[in-house]
Amino acid sequence: MKTISILGFAGSLRKDSYNKSILRAAIEFLPKDTGLEIFDLEGIPPFNQDIENQPPEKVRGFKTKIRAADAILIATPEYNYSIPGVLKNAIDWASRPYGDNAFDGKPAAVMGASIGMGGTMRAQYHLRQCFVFLNMHPINQPEVMVPFAHEKIDQSGRVTDQKTREKIRELLENLVIWTQRLEEL
Ligand SMILES: Cc1cc2nc3c(=O)[nH]c(=O)nc-3n(C[C@H](O)[C@H](O)[C@H](O)COP(=O)(O)O)c2cc1C
Repeated sequence: MKTISILGFAGSLRKDSYNKSILRAAIEFLPKDTGLEIFDLEGIPPFNQDIENQPPEKVRGFKTKIRAADAILIATPEYNYSIPGVLKNAIDWASRPYGDNAFDGKPAAVMGASIGMGGTMRAQYHLRQCFVFLNMHPINQPEVMVPFAHEKIDQSGRVTDQKTREKIRELLENLVIWTQRLEEL
């Protein structure tokens, strides 16, 4: 069985981000023969179509890593009932110029943590809407929505809530199975 490589990124630049924490937790639950590289979106500027043919170095590196990955894992915060601009900008850069969408055909999984009771559900559905035009293939289940994240992740950034840990493990397992199935097609 070939090794599956996953590229993960969080839509938060915050040092103590709960979304960075759940992404790191995913490393603990990687199925056999699977790798997860975490990419930090820090340094990706606001998207500017004037320079989409000469993107900044950081964007070029991001696109290269997306292309090299077998699957994508995104941990999104929810900002004002949607995805943060930081995440949307990164996605927009990686999808351009037209015809050079690095996400094209990639299997994907989504999770998200918020301090509110919705657990990023509205942001996740907005993100899934983007996946349609990006031609990505997200898994539907489990939906990993982590509400009241401050009660489930400790000061050191460790996910302490058992149910959340179990959901992240299940998400990783399903993403790998889904990726293998798509590669067999
Ligand atoms: C601009 C802004 C908008 C926010 N809007 C929401 C929201 O719509 N829903 C929600 O549950 N939390 C919202 N929050 C609170 C976030 O859940 C919280 O800041 C969380 O820690 C962000 O994720 P992070 O820890 O990965 O940075 C908002 C926070 C900010 C800074």
